[in-house]
Amino acid sequence: MQKNVVVLLGTGSIGQAIARRVGAGKHIVLADLKQENAERAAKILEDAGFETSTIVADLGSKESILKLIDAAQKIGTVKNLINAAGVSPSQASVQDILRVDLYGTAVLLEEFGKIIAEGGSGVVISSQSGHRLGALSEEQNEQLATSPTDELLSLPFIKAITDTLKAYQYSKRCNVLRVMYEASRWGKRGATINSISPGIIITPLANDELHGPRAEGYLKMLRLCPAGRAGTPDEVGDLAEFLMSSRGRWISGSDFLIDGGTTASYWYGDLQYLKATH
Ligand SMILES: NC(=O)c1ccc[n+]([C@@H]2O[C@H](COP(=O)([O-])OP(=O)(O)OC[C@H]3O[C@@H](n4cnc5c(N)ncnc54)[C@H](O)[C@@H]3O)[C@@H](O)[C@H]2O)c1
Repeated sequence: MQKNVVVLLGTGSIGQAIARRVGAGKHIVLADLKQENAERAAKILEDAGFETSTIVADLGSKESILKLIDAAQKIGTVKNLINAAGVSPSQASVQDILRVDLYGTAVLLEEFGKIIAEGGSGVVISSQSGHRLGALSEEQNEQLATSPTDELLSLPFIKAITDTLKAYQYSKRCNVLRVMYEASRWGKRGATINSISPGIIITPLANDELHGPRAEGYLKMLRLCPAGRAGTPDEVGDLAEFLMSSRGRWISGSDFLIDGGTTASYWYGDLQYLKATH
Protein backbone atom coordinates (compact mmCIF):
# COMPACT_ATOMS: atom_id res chain seq x y z
CA MET A 1 0.00 0.00 0.00
CA GLN A 2 1.30 3.48 -0.90
CA LYS A 3 2.30 5.58 2.10
CA ASN A 4 1.15 9.13 2.61
CA VAL A 5 4.20 11.37 2.77
CA VAL A 6 4.76 14.72 4.50
CA VAL A 7 7.77 16.64 3.19
CA LEU A 8 9.30 19.05 5.70
CA LEU A 9 12.00 21.31 4.31
CA GLY A 10 13.84 23.10 7.12
CA THR A 11 13.86 20.92 10.24
CA GLY A 12 14.10 23.68 12.90
CA SER A 13 11.61 23.97 15.72
CA ILE A 14 8.86 25.68 13.70
CA GLY A 15 9.00 22.96 11.04
CA GLN A 16 9.05 20.21 13.67
CA ALA A 17 6.04 21.68 15.50
CA ILE A 18 4.02 21.55 12.28
CA ALA A 19 5.25 18.08 11.30
CA ARG A 20 4.20 16.68 14.69
CA ARG A 21 0.66 17.93 14.12
CA VAL A 22 0.17 16.60 10.61
CA GLY A 23 2.56 13.64 10.48
CA ALA A 24 0.94 10.90 12.61
CA GLY A 25 0.41 7.73 10.60
CA LYS A 26 2.31 9.16 7.64
CA HIS A 27 5.97 9.11 6.60
CA ILE A 28 7.80 12.40 7.27
CA VAL A 29 10.68 13.22 4.94
CA LEU A 30 12.98 15.52 6.92
CA ALA A 31 14.94 17.63 4.44
CA ASP A 32 17.55 20.18 5.44
CA LEU A 33 20.71 21.80 4.12
CA LYS A 34 22.43 20.45 7.22
CA GLN A 35 22.35 16.69 7.66
CA GLU A 36 22.89 17.05 11.41
CA ASN A 37 19.76 19.22 11.78
CA ALA A 38 17.65 16.68 9.89
CA GLU A 39 19.06 13.85 12.00
CA ARG A 40 18.47 15.72 15.25
CA ALA A 41 14.82 16.25 14.23
CA ALA A 42 14.53 12.59 13.18
CA LYS A 43 15.71 11.40 16.61
CA ILE A 44 13.16 13.61 18.41
CA LEU A 45 10.29 12.62 16.11
CA GLU A 46 11.14 8.90 15.98
CA ASP A 47 11.26 8.85 19.79
CA ALA A 48 7.77 10.39 19.76
CA GLY A 49 6.34 7.66 17.49
CA PHE A 50 6.67 9.22 14.04
CA GLU A 51 8.09 7.45 10.98
CA THR A 52 10.81 9.54 9.31
CA SER A 53 13.69 9.55 6.87
CA THR A 54 16.29 12.27 6.27
CA ILE A 55 17.73 13.85 3.15
CA VAL A 56 20.08 16.75 2.49
CA ALA A 57 18.35 19.36 0.31
CA ASP A 58 19.03 22.97 -0.63
CA LEU A 59 15.97 25.21 -1.02
CA GLY A 60 18.09 27.53 -3.16
CA SER A 61 18.73 24.90 -5.86
CA LYS A 62 16.17 23.64 -8.39
CA GLU A 63 18.20 20.50 -8.97
CA SER A 64 18.14 19.73 -5.25
CA ILE A 65 14.36 20.35 -5.05
CA LEU A 66 13.79 17.94 -7.95
CA LYS A 67 15.90 15.29 -6.19
CA LEU A 68 13.86 15.80 -3.02
CA ILE A 69 10.62 15.27 -4.95
CA ASP A 70 12.04 12.14 -6.52
CA ALA A 71 13.10 10.74 -3.14
CA ALA A 72 9.72 11.56 -1.55
CA GLN A 73 7.78 9.93 -4.41
CA LYS A 74 9.82 6.75 -4.06
CA ILE A 75 8.44 6.48 -0.51
CA GLY A 76 4.82 7.24 -1.32
CA THR A 77 2.21 9.85 -2.24
CA VAL A 78 3.11 13.41 -1.27
CA LYS A 79 0.13 14.68 0.72
CA ASN A 80 1.70 17.60 2.57
CA LEU A 81 4.47 20.11 2.03
CA ILE A 82 5.86 22.25 4.86
CA ASN A 83 8.43 24.85 3.92
CA ALA A 84 10.10 26.02 7.12
CA ALA A 85 13.56 26.46 5.60
CA GLY A 86 15.09 29.84 5.23
CA VAL A 87 17.96 32.17 5.97
CA SER A 88 17.64 35.35 8.00
CA PRO A 89 19.02 38.87 7.45
CA SER A 90 21.56 38.50 10.26
CA GLN A 91 22.86 35.16 8.94
CA ALA A 92 23.25 35.53 5.18
CA SER A 93 24.22 37.79 2.26
CA VAL A 94 21.72 39.62 0.02
CA GLN A 95 22.39 37.09 -2.77
CA ASP A 96 21.86 34.07 -0.53
CA ILE A 97 18.65 35.45 0.98
CA LEU A 98 17.21 36.14 -2.48
CA ARG A 99 18.35 32.79 -3.87
CA VAL A 100 17.04 30.70 -0.97
CA ASP A 101 14.06 32.60 0.46
CA LEU A 102 12.69 34.24 -2.71
CA TYR A 103 13.72 32.14 -5.73
CA GLY A 104 13.91 28.78 -3.92
CA THR A 105 10.46 29.06 -2.39
CA ALA A 106 8.97 29.96 -5.79
CA VAL A 107 10.60 26.89 -7.39
CA LEU A 108 9.53 24.65 -4.51
CA LEU A 109 5.88 25.70 -4.84
CA GLU A 110 5.93 25.28 -8.61
CA GLU A 111 7.52 21.82 -8.56
CA PHE A 112 5.48 20.39 -5.66
CA GLY A 113 2.39 21.89 -7.33
CA LYS A 114 3.00 19.41 -10.18
CA ILE A 115 2.92 16.32 -7.95
CA ILE A 116 0.90 17.16 -4.80
CA ALA A 117 -1.82 14.59 -4.11
CA GLU A 118 -5.58 15.16 -4.38
CA GLY A 119 -6.78 16.39 -0.96
CA GLY A 120 -3.25 17.54 -0.13
CA SER A 121 -2.11 20.77 1.46
CA GLY A 122 0.96 22.90 1.96
CA VAL A 123 2.20 25.76 4.10
CA VAL A 124 5.09 28.14 3.60
CA ILE A 125 6.59 29.97 6.58
CA SER A 126 6.94 33.58 5.51
CA SER A 127 7.46 36.35 8.12
CA GLN A 128 5.96 39.44 9.71
CA SER A 129 8.95 41.14 8.10
CA GLY A 130 7.17 41.05 4.72
CA HIS A 131 4.36 43.07 6.30
CA ARG A 132 6.75 45.89 7.21
CA LEU A 133 7.47 46.65 3.56
CA GLY A 134 5.27 49.46 2.21
CA ALA A 135 2.81 48.76 -0.59
CA LEU A 136 4.36 47.72 -3.91
CA SER A 137 2.90 48.80 -7.25
CA GLU A 138 0.34 46.54 -8.91
CA GLU A 139 2.92 45.77 -11.59
CA GLN A 140 5.58 44.79 -9.05
CA ASN A 141 3.10 42.55 -7.24
CA GLU A 142 2.22 40.85 -10.50
CA GLN A 143 5.84 40.41 -11.47
CA LEU A 144 6.71 38.80 -8.13
CA ALA A 145 3.61 36.59 -8.26
CA THR A 146 3.75 35.41 -11.86
CA SER A 147 7.23 35.80 -13.40
CA PRO A 148 8.84 32.55 -14.52
CA THR A 149 11.01 31.42 -11.61
CA ASP A 150 14.28 31.79 -13.54
CA GLU A 151 13.47 35.46 -14.23
CA LEU A 152 12.63 36.46 -10.64
CA LEU A 153 16.13 37.43 -9.57
CA SER A 154 16.59 39.54 -12.73
CA LEU A 155 13.64 41.83 -12.01
CA PRO A 156 15.18 45.35 -11.86
CA PHE A 157 13.74 46.23 -8.42
CA ILE A 158 15.04 42.92 -7.01
CA LYS A 159 18.49 43.38 -8.58
CA ALA A 160 18.65 46.85 -7.00
CA ILE A 161 18.42 45.49 -3.41
CA THR A 162 21.62 46.08 -1.47
CA ASP A 163 20.78 45.44 2.18
CA THR A 164 19.94 42.14 3.81
CA LEU A 165 16.81 43.32 5.65
CA LYS A 166 15.25 44.56 2.39
CA ALA A 167 16.24 41.29 0.69
CA TYR A 168 14.46 39.37 3.47
CA GLN A 169 11.37 41.62 3.37
CA TYR A 170 11.00 41.35 -0.41
CA SER A 171 11.55 37.59 -0.23
CA LYS A 172 8.85 37.14 2.36
CA ARG A 173 6.44 39.41 0.43
CA CYS A 174 7.19 37.35 -2.65
CA ASN A 175 6.39 34.11 -0.75
CA VAL A 176 2.90 35.43 -0.01
CA LEU A 177 2.32 36.54 -3.62
CA ARG A 178 3.67 33.29 -5.00
CA VAL A 179 1.29 31.33 -2.75
CA MET A 180 -1.60 33.35 -4.24
CA TYR A 181 -0.40 32.54 -7.77
CA GLU A 182 0.12 28.84 -7.04
CA ALA A 183 -3.26 28.43 -5.29
CA SER A 184 -4.96 28.11 -8.72
CA ARG A 185 -2.64 25.37 -9.89
CA TRP A 186 -2.68 23.51 -6.58
CA GLY A 187 -6.48 23.85 -6.63
CA LYS A 188 -6.67 22.09 -10.01
CA ARG A 189 -5.08 19.09 -8.28
CA GLY A 190 -7.53 19.35 -5.34
CA ALA A 191 -4.87 20.73 -2.99
CA THR A 192 -4.55 23.90 -0.91
CA ILE A 193 -1.51 26.11 -0.33
CA ASN A 194 -1.19 28.92 2.23
CA SER A 195 1.47 30.96 3.95
CA ILE A 196 1.99 31.84 7.60
CA SER A 197 3.82 35.02 8.61
CA PRO A 198 5.09 34.66 12.18
CA GLY A 199 6.44 37.38 14.44
CA ILE A 200 9.30 36.60 16.81
CA ILE A 201 9.11 32.91 17.67
CA ILE A 202 11.36 31.50 20.35
CA THR A 203 13.80 29.09 18.73
CA PRO A 204 17.40 28.40 19.83
CA LEU A 205 18.61 31.30 17.62
CA ALA A 206 15.97 33.77 18.83
CA ASN A 207 16.64 32.72 22.41
CA ASP A 208 20.34 33.56 21.93
CA GLU A 209 19.33 37.02 20.66
CA LEU A 210 17.16 37.54 23.73
CA HIS A 211 20.15 36.88 25.95
CA GLY A 212 22.81 38.51 23.73
CA PRO A 213 24.09 42.06 23.21
CA ARG A 214 20.91 43.25 21.44
CA ALA A 215 18.63 41.78 24.14
CA GLU A 216 17.46 45.15 25.45
CA GLY A 217 15.94 46.24 22.12
CA TYR A 218 14.20 42.90 21.61
CA LEU A 219 12.80 42.82 25.14
CA LYS A 220 11.42 46.36 24.77
CA MET A 221 9.71 45.41 21.53
CA LEU A 222 8.18 42.28 23.06
CA ARG A 223 7.03 44.20 26.15
CA LEU A 224 5.28 46.82 23.98
CA CYS A 225 3.62 44.48 21.49
CA PRO A 226 -0.08 43.79 22.18
CA ALA A 227 0.54 40.21 23.41
CA GLY A 228 3.47 41.37 25.56
CA ARG A 229 5.62 38.33 24.70
CA ALA A 230 7.21 36.32 21.92
CA GLY A 231 5.44 33.39 20.26
CA THR A 232 6.21 29.69 20.45
CA PRO A 233 6.70 27.17 17.63
CA ASP A 234 3.67 25.28 18.94
CA GLU A 235 1.39 28.29 18.35
CA VAL A 236 2.52 28.40 14.72
CA GLY A 237 2.02 24.63 14.59
CA ASP A 238 -1.58 24.96 15.78
CA LEU A 239 -2.41 27.44 13.02
CA ALA A 240 -0.70 25.29 10.37
CA GLU A 241 -2.56 22.21 11.63
CA PHE A 242 -5.89 23.96 11.09
CA LEU A 243 -4.93 25.14 7.60
CA MET A 244 -3.71 21.68 6.60
CA SER A 245 -6.61 19.75 8.13
CA SER A 246 -10.01 18.86 6.65
CA ARG A 247 -11.40 21.97 8.40
CA GLY A 248 -9.15 24.18 6.28
CA ARG A 249 -10.28 22.99 2.86
CA TRP A 250 -11.93 26.31 1.96
CA ILE A 251 -8.75 28.25 2.68
CA SER A 252 -6.16 28.59 -0.08
CA GLY A 253 -3.89 31.30 -1.45
CA SER A 254 -4.03 33.15 1.89
CA ASP A 255 -1.45 34.54 4.27
CA PHE A 256 -1.88 34.41 8.05
CA LEU A 257 -0.06 36.85 10.27
CA ILE A 258 0.64 35.36 13.72
CA ASP A 259 2.65 37.90 15.68
CA GLY A 260 0.83 38.81 18.91
CA GLY A 261 -0.33 42.05 17.28
CA THR A 262 3.22 43.28 16.55
CA THR A 263 2.55 44.35 12.95
CA ALA A 264 -0.58 46.27 13.93
CA SER A 265 1.41 48.04 16.60
CA TYR A 266 4.34 48.70 14.21
CA TRP A 267 2.07 50.60 11.82
CA TYR A 268 -0.41 52.26 14.18
CA GLY A 269 0.54 51.63 17.82
CA ASP A 270 3.30 51.67 20.44
CA LEU A 271 5.89 50.09 18.12
CA GLN A 272 5.86 52.91 15.55
CA TYR A 273 9.30 53.97 16.84
CA LEU A 274 10.69 50.88 15.01
CA LYS A 275 9.86 52.44 11.63
CA ALA A 276 12.95 54.62 11.94
CA THR A 277 15.14 51.50 12.05
CA HIS A 278 13.47 49.45 9.28
N1 LIG B 1 12.07 32.20 14.49
C1 LIG B 1 11.44 33.31 14.18
O1 LIG B 1 11.30 34.23 15.00
C2 LIG B 1 10.85 33.48 12.80
C3 LIG B 1 9.98 34.55 12.59
C4 LIG B 1 9.42 34.72 11.33
C5 LIG B 1 9.73 33.85 10.31
N2 LIG B 1 10.60 32.83 10.53
C6 LIG B 1 10.88 31.95 9.40
O2 LIG B 1 10.67 30.61 9.79
C7 LIG B 1 11.49 29.75 8.98
C8 LIG B 1 12.17 28.78 9.94
O3 LIG B 1 12.93 29.52 10.84
P1 LIG B 1 13.38 28.98 12.25
O4 LIG B 1 13.32 30.11 13.19
O5 LIG B 1 12.69 27.69 12.58
O6 LIG B 1 14.92 28.79 11.90
P2 LIG B 1 15.92 27.60 12.15
O7 LIG B 1 17.26 28.15 11.78
O8 LIG B 1 15.71 27.00 13.49
O9 LIG B 1 15.46 26.53 11.07
C9 LIG B 1 15.67 26.70 9.72
C10 LIG B 1 16.22 25.43 9.13
O10 LIG B 1 16.35 25.65 7.74
C11 LIG B 1 17.57 25.09 7.32
N3 LIG B 1 18.02 25.74 6.11
C12 LIG B 1 18.66 26.94 5.99
N4 LIG B 1 18.92 27.18 4.69
C13 LIG B 1 18.44 26.13 4.00
C14 LIG B 1 18.42 25.78 2.62
N5 LIG B 1 18.97 26.58 1.69
N6 LIG B 1 17.85 24.63 2.26
C15 LIG B 1 17.32 23.79 3.18
N7 LIG B 1 17.32 24.05 4.50
C16 LIG B 1 17.87 25.20 4.89
C17 LIG B 1 18.53 25.28 8.48
O11 LIG B 1 19.62 24.37 8.41
C18 LIG B 1 17.60 25.03 9.67
O12 LIG B 1 17.61 23.67 10.06
C19 LIG B 1 12.42 30.67 8.19
O13 LIG B 1 11.90 30.81 6.87
C20 LIG B 1 12.31 32.00 8.92
O14 LIG B 1 12.51 33.08 8.03
C21 LIG B 1 11.17 32.62 11.77
